[in-house]
Amino acid sequence: MNPVKPTASAAAEGATRMTRDTLTVTDNRTGKTYELPITHDTIRAADLRPIKVNADDFGLMSYDPAFNNTALCHSKITFIDGDKGILRYRGYPIEELAENSTYLETAYLILYGELPTRAHLDEWSYHVTHHTFIHESIKKFLDGFHYDAHPMGMLISAIAALSTFYPEARHIFDAESRRKQTWRLVGKMPTLAAFAYRHTLGMPFAYPDNELTYPGNFLNMLFKTTELKYRPNPALEHALDVLFILHADHEQNCSANAMRCVGSSHVDPFSAIAAATAALYGPLHGGANEEVLRMLMEIGSIANVPAFIKRVKSGEKKLMGFGHRVYKNYDPRARIIKGVADEVFEIMGRNPLLNIALECERIALEDDYFVTRKLYPNVDFYTGLIYQSMGFPVTMFPVLFAIPRTSGWIAQWEEMLLDPEQKIARPRQVYLGEEQRPYVPIEQR
Ligand code: CMC
Repeated sequence: MNPVKPTASAAAEGATRMTRDTLTVTDNRTGKTYELPITHDTIRAADLRPIKVNADDFGLMSYDPAFNNTALCHSKITFIDGDKGILRYRGYPIEELAENSTYLETAYLILYGELPTRAHLDEWSYHVTHHTFIHESIKKFLDGFHYDAHPMGMLISAIAALSTFYPEARHIFDAESRRKQTWRLVGKMPTLAAFAYRHTLGMPFAYPDNELTYPGNFLNMLFKTTELKYRPNPALEHALDVLFILHADHEQNCSANAMRCVGSSHVDPFSAIAAATAALYGPLHGGANEEVLRMLMEIGSIANVPAFIKRVKSGEKKLMGFGHRVYKNYDPRARIIKGVADEVFEIMGRNPLLNIALECERIALEDDYFVTRKLYPNVDFYTGLIYQSMGFPVTMFPVLFAIPRTSGWIAQWEEMLLDPEQKIARPRQVYLGEEQRPYVPIEQR
């Protein structure tokens, strides 16, 4: 049945219309009326296409720059209610996962849809742990970067390079291959990240320690020096694990969209993750945590906060770490992060920039500019302060976002691949350029 049925008259159908899951549209160019099905509170953009002025007309399209109001997929992974400040992975509230789970368990949940049994968790952890080593040639590759190369640039390149080490990863419709690439990606991201960091310091690479937890091993590869066995501070290890849980997925954000879009060409997952990581690098997305720290340092003192906020309101600056496309309420992750910050500061000492951040938040939450635009602190507002107190340089902040987001990217990619409705992502455009015109020889221009 054609889902778009032109109807004679909208009014004639009477009161029953009010209860139907359809949308009636009248095209005033032609006077024709169409009835479009509504499913899950959406109409299908393709259902607009039969709305035409004449037979030669291409048909109506929807125009939605930056996907402000376009659902790209059906998904069962992450739920966000931006007005209420709710975030759930596979139905489980983020608060409960942050309180009770570990990153590896949460990653399993995101990837496979259910919390693992003890046996499944052990097996999953074993496989991830046994895929943490990287080929020695990757080290040579990393060595080629300049000493002050941004670790995010190094990470993007190194992930893309992994695809050349695992050419079988291109068999994306082989479930076994996907499973293996998942272990590799989740396992190797911390190693690549830590090696990129050590390279910038000129320090020898510290190899993975399979006896440590996922975040514990990451700290080992970052900070191990001469000790025979690195023993992470359990409180910092736990704080990092919670931060990883909070960053594991966030439905159709810019980098998840990059993952789905690039993956829809059926490229291997390493190349698609490199693209997603590149999307994350930008200051409006995962690079915001780095920008928040730079902003707080630029503000310099509490006394300077009102003047800075004034510049934000005049459009001269952005209050980095504030605002979100989906959250029009407090980002639930930011709330949890404030608790983690207290735990870290207790061990490492209070970050002196915290007072500036708190003052920015206090002023912004009372100011009409921010209130009317529903701008609240997002996940990135406080993470930088924690990372800095834990000893990470500012340039590592987006890298710390990319590591846990890998599980979310893979889950989004796999859901896209296995969805029979999905095809290569290929949007339309509204062409507003020149009409056809003859080529003009250079001497006549
Ligand atoms: N500071 C000052 N004004 C802002 C800010 C901000 N951080 N964010 C939004 N606005 C204003 C914006 O200028 C606009 O005002 P007006 O209506 O007068 O033109 C209004 O609020 C709506 O903003 P928008 O740009 O239409 O919102 P968006 O959904 O396109 O952008 C955002 C969302 C996150 C890119 C944006 O809020 C932003 O740039 N924030 C700062 C960067 C940041 O913290 N990014 C991290 C996002 S959370 C983690 C992640 O996803 O990676």
